[in-house]
This record gives sequence, structure tokens and C-alpha cells, in this order.
Amino acid sequence: MKNIAIFASGSGSNAENIIKHFKAKNVHVKLILSNKKDAYVLKRAENHNIPVLVFNRDSFYNTDQVLIILLSLEIDLIVLAGFLWLIPEYLIKAYPNKIINIHPALLPKYGGKGMYGINVHKAVIENKEKESGISIHYVNPVYDEGQIIFQAKCKVKATDTPEELAKKVHQLEYEYFPMIIERLLSD
Ligand code: GRF
Repeated sequence: MKNIAIFASGSGSNAENIIKHFKAKNVHVKLILSNKKDAYVLKRAENHNIPVLVFNRDSFYNTDQVLIILLSLEIDLIVLAGFLWLIPEYLIKAYPNKIINIHPALLPKYGGKGMYGINVHKAVIENKEKESGISIHYVNPVYDEGQIIFQAKCKVKATDTPEELAKKVHQLEYEYFPMIIERLLSD
């Protein structure tokens, strides 16, 4: 049995997709963590009876509350799925190559601070890119710069709106993210 914890700041459709994927498998989603007490991901977690932890900036950056809980749950892999805060160094040190993030574009392009959600897709379309996609990468102390583990691509049509592109990218996320998590856990 392997244990994962998922950090999310928003809707959490990826988090829920991962929860569903691992329901009947040897992987336990032990905890959903969020920096936002009204994030929809918390409702999704509740619907699946997954415990949640909401923390504030001070407890996350200046205390070891989160670390203590993750250690007590024997978490093997930390998954960031739409989590917007930078991961503090103490967590990266405690979980070397055991924290992964999904980014809705083909890194190293369209990453970094401010490049999240619909902003990413707007920038891709404004730059008339012919393709976009997803990047799953290890987390290091700089936003979106950790080693890339996996990428998948989709076409960008000249007529695509940011919302249409977001849909295509989400489909790739649903298809590949659980699979990559499973692969990493079995390595
Ligand atoms: C996803 O597109 C993910 O790549 C990005 O944030 C979005 C989260 O979507 N990091 P959701 O909350 O899982 O629906």
C-alpha cells in the first residue's frame, strides 16, 4: 500500500480524478490539503470521505504543522494539482523527488509566477502557438523549474479560445496524471 497527499487551491477536478482512479487500487489518497478554506476541492474530498487540512500562510511557511501531519500519515508521494503557493524548502528537503506538480503547458515555456489557470492558455493563444499540452515535473524551490517527468501535447487551433484550450489540456491531465503517479509509486 502506498500513500499520497494532494495539495490543491481551487476546483480540484484533477484531485477528484486521481481519487477515483485509485479507489480500488493499492494507493491510498490519505489527505487533501488546501490553502483556501472555500476551495471546491474540499467539497469533492468530503464527497469521497477523504480527510482535509486547510492551512494559512503562517502555519505553512513558519511552522512544521503540515510536515508533521504528512510524516504521521506516512506519505510516499505529494501531488500538487492546481496548488498555487510556492512549496517551502523544508518540505522539499523532507521529500526529495517525492513532490510532483502538473502544469497546463509545455514547460519550460509558459511557466513561472503568474502563469496559472486561464493566464497560461491566453498566453499560448496570444503567441499563436500551434501546440500546447501538459508537463508533470518534480518540484524544486523555483516555480515550474523542476525536472520534467512527462509531457503530452495537444493541437492549438487558430480559432481556439483560452477556455477551449483549457478543456483540451484538462482532458490530457485526466488521462495521464493518475497513470504517471501510479508509475512513480511503483518505481
Ligand atoms: C490544472 O490545469 C493544472 O494543470 C493547474 O491547475 C489546474 C487545476 O485544475 N496546475 P483543477 O482544479 O484540477 O480542475
